Amino acid sequence: MPPFDIVIRGARIVTASDLFVADLGLRGETIAAIGRDLPAGDREIEATGYIVTPGGVDAHCHIEQLTATGLMNADSFETATRAAAQGGTTTVVPFAAQHPGTSLEKVVADYHEAAARGAIVDYAFHMIVTDPRPEILNRELPPLVRAGHASLKAFMTYDRLRVEDEKLLDIIWAARRHGCMVCIHAENHGMISWTSRRLLERGYKAPRYHVVSHPRLGEAEAVYRAITFATFLDQPIMLFHLSTREAVEIVHRARGEGRKIFAETCTQYLLLDAADLDRPGIEGAMWMCSPPLRDAEDREALWRGLENGTLQLVSSDHAPYRMDETGKLARGPDPSFKEIANGLPGIELRLPLLFDAMVSSGRMDLRRFVELTATAPARIYNLHPKKGTIAVGADADLVLWDPSLEVTIAQGPRHDNAGYTPYAGRRVRGWPVMVLRRGEVIVEKGELRAMPGSGRFLPRTGGEAAKPTGRLAPELDPGRNFGAVLTD
Ligand code: URP
Ligand code: ZN
Ligand code: ZN
Repeated sequence: MPPFDIVIRGARIVTASDLFVADLGLRGETIAAIGRDLPAGDREIEATGYIVTPGGVDAHCHIEQLTATGLMNADSFETATRAAAQGGTTTVVPFAAQHPGTSLEKVVADYHEAAARGAIVDYAFHMIVTDPRPEILNRELPPLVRAGHASLKAFMTYDRLRVEDEKLLDIIWAARRHGCMVCIHAENHGMISWTSRRLLERGYKAPRYHVVSHPRLGEAEAVYRAITFATFLDQPIMLFHLSTREAVEIVHRARGEGRKIFAETCTQYLLLDAADLDRPGIEGAMWMCSPPLRDAEDREALWRGLENGTLQLVSSDHAPYRMDETGKLARGPDPSFKEIANGLPGIELRLPLLFDAMVSSGRMDLRRFVELTATAPARIYNLHPKKGTIAVGADADLVLWDPSLEVTIAQGPRHDNAGYTPYAGRRVRGWPVMVLRRGEVIVEKGELRAMPGSGRFLPRTGGEAAKPTGRLAPELDPGRNFGAVLTD
């Protein structure tokens, strides 16, 4: 019996810290050996000239999720995760989304069931908390965290999802007590609704006004406020989907002051432009997401933020809605920008687009690409070293890249169910030609080989990233003033 089930020979292996040529010996679900001239495996994969990276970790994606207005997004766990697999992503962290008045426990059970039925890649959940009553935070949350759900998402905007400042403080405090990361959608709600109302009153309803209705200062203000809350309560936060140079600057300053703040951007904010929404009629709706797409200077600031460490990872924020009555046009054929579901499909193309924009373009080296798309998300959400790296003992989640294969992204259906891609027409160099999940080849020559339901839940604790720094605001310091009263 050969010692390995699969041997991948002669590839350039990339981790966040190393780049070397070697063979990989896989046994069962894990990487069993890394070296030269490994003994033969049951299956031999000749990979000279190819690059092998860890499977991508997409830590922000919306799958089979019900919006606050009752609209189901376009993807089931099966369709979203088959698309993820085709693009080289082998771990996803979608949401279990609570709506006001519902039980978080029940919501998590429902999403678990959907994922267990359909998921093709491995998954964990962030729990969206829209109704942080004491019953939820004190009774329902602790066992959910113990069951392996160690991150929450809170919204500072959206009519039916947002939490007021005091409630956000409650959520951050609960996260501190139970050891979770809080991910925050940071935009100022009042600025969005004030601007939207005035635009609509004056007859400006086309998709392009969506950009105007989310003022860039609204992101900056909310990012600053969220950082202030996190500092006050000494609990790390993750700022989701940063889009503006002002927000990057604020995070840069906070991290420079030693605050434990994490921040993400998404593929679309690095590659797409607000001008994409300027198309005639309703077409611009295909590029509508929140926060909205911005301009070239913002993109440059986001890229610099990735280069200097202000931003730690790039997610897809995959939020797919079809351009029909089931999705973007659910409120009729001529909706105002306020009536159009926000979100773009991106789970499949995140890695190929970023490989091209980071590596093939020469902007960043391969190790940084791996760090930003796999290792950092796995570390921050405490899935590392099982996920997000190539090491003996790690899950054999691997992507074989042909670095010279050029592909023009066509319009039309991909493997998800959105029915379109906002990236059509782009030519990328570098493509994932084979994908392995836990030692099993799940994509080969464009063919999906894994069954729905073969993805596995990844329970996790909050880990290092979610730990407080030990520097509570003076008012809350248990040794001083009312600290003991406020923090019991
Ligand atoms: O437009 C987006 N991003 N829709 C998904 C919801 C969110 O805020 O992440
Ligand atoms: Zn968001
Ligand atoms: Zn999102």
